[in-house]
Amino acid sequence: MIESKNITEVQLDIEKIRADFPILSRKVNGKPLIYFDNGATAQKPKSVIDAIGNYYSNQNANIHRGVHTLSQEITVAYENARSTIQKHLNAEHAHEIIFTKGTTDSINLVASSFGKKFIFQGDEILVSAMEHHSNILPWQQVCEERGAILKVIPINKEGELIISEYKRLLTDKTKIVALTHISNTLGTINPIEELIALAHVKNIPVLVDGAQAVPHTNVNVQLISADFYVFSGHKLFGPTGVGVLYGKEKWLTEIPPYQVGGGTIKTVTFEKTEYADLPLKFEAGTPHIEGGIGLAAAIDYVNKIGLNNIAAYENELLVYATEALGKINGVKIIGTAKEKASVISFIVDGLHPFDIGTILDQLGIAVRTGHHCTQPLMQFYGIQGTVRASFAFYNTKEEIDLFINGLERAIKMLN
Ligand SMILES: Cc1ncc(COP(=O)(O)O)c(C=O)c1O
Repeated sequence: MIESKNITEVQLDIEKIRADFPILSRKVNGKPLIYFDNGATAQKPKSVIDAIGNYYSNQNANIHRGVHTLSQEITVAYENARSTIQKHLNAEHAHEIIFTKGTTDSINLVASSFGKKFIFQGDEILVSAMEHHSNILPWQQVCEERGAILKVIPINKEGELIISEYKRLLTDKTKIVALTHISNTLGTINPIEELIALAHVKNIPVLVDGAQAVPHTNVNVQLISADFYVFSGHKLFGPTGVGVLYGKEKWLTEIPPYQVGGGTIKTVTFEKTEYADLPLKFEAGTPHIEGGIGLAAAIDYVNKIGLNNIAAYENELLVYATEALGKINGVKIIGTAKEKASVISFIVDGLHPFDIGTILDQLGIAVRTGHHCTQPLMQFYGIQGTVRASFAFYNTKEEIDLFINGLERAIKMLN
């Protein structure tokens, strides 16, 4: 974990940044909103909201379909959005960026299409013990359909992958590895470059679930050599209903289309269909046009602040909140990896996370409670759920003080 540096707070003009997010000035239950549920979805800056509004006010038309001016303009804008994402991820080609509905949709696409082509009876698929259900269930389904076996990389009590076990589980039977970059529940940042390199030694491709990574860190898909990298727009300060599948050209060319229909073809006869080249092969039907445009606006916004600045500032928040929580009797943090993003899960002796979350909500503080779509992880820790506070760059230490104060009040009330 990098050490807290006060200068970053000065470098990021948090008041100015906060003013860009209209929702942050609203009240909840009569109190100023303190939004610590960024892991579930992030708030949107005005530039994203305006980009979506502008699409409907001035640009609305379908893409790739018309000779008329509006259709051509919006097609260019949509393809520019794809290029923005390509540059942001440092993908080699724009056609390696597939627009999807989100992380879950992207993983289902890969599991289904890769599974059909490459997974057979007795093959193994490797996931980790800290995966979100969205990076377990699609693989479980492929295993059922194809007669394959799901293997799980174990973690230690701190919430870190056990690398020696990972190495042991990578065998000739392993056909794909699917790993989260950052855990949504524990905040653990996995050493993704190293994990991918280990799989590549055995020629095994790796899908990375980047849902929680893209809001906090720079991702360079060529540097880490990810075969597939997936994320959702809405966690990256963009719209809901849009997400990204990055895939190496080689894989996207080899695997079959996922859903088919308008937009995915070169020619159709009743006898035979010839599918379009990348990326359209994977984009059936009218896409979430304003979503793609809004997501590009979100990426532009984040890049103006700079993901390195964001990571450094959020780490300050993480360190500050971790220290403060550590001083409260009965609080136990779940997930104490050396490398962590600004996500803190905790439990309080004898109290139900839901009750704590409900009282915090009365104070205008939004946290997440429950299993966070990671039930196997809850089983590993022998708990029902946690309270999770997840911070974004618009959060402040003052908000953390109010949260700690509110938590202490909640604990008193519930005891
Ligand atoms: C690590 C991780 N993977 C996958 C998902 C699913 O994302 P979505 O619901 O946007 O498809 C989430 C959402 O919380 C997540 O945190």
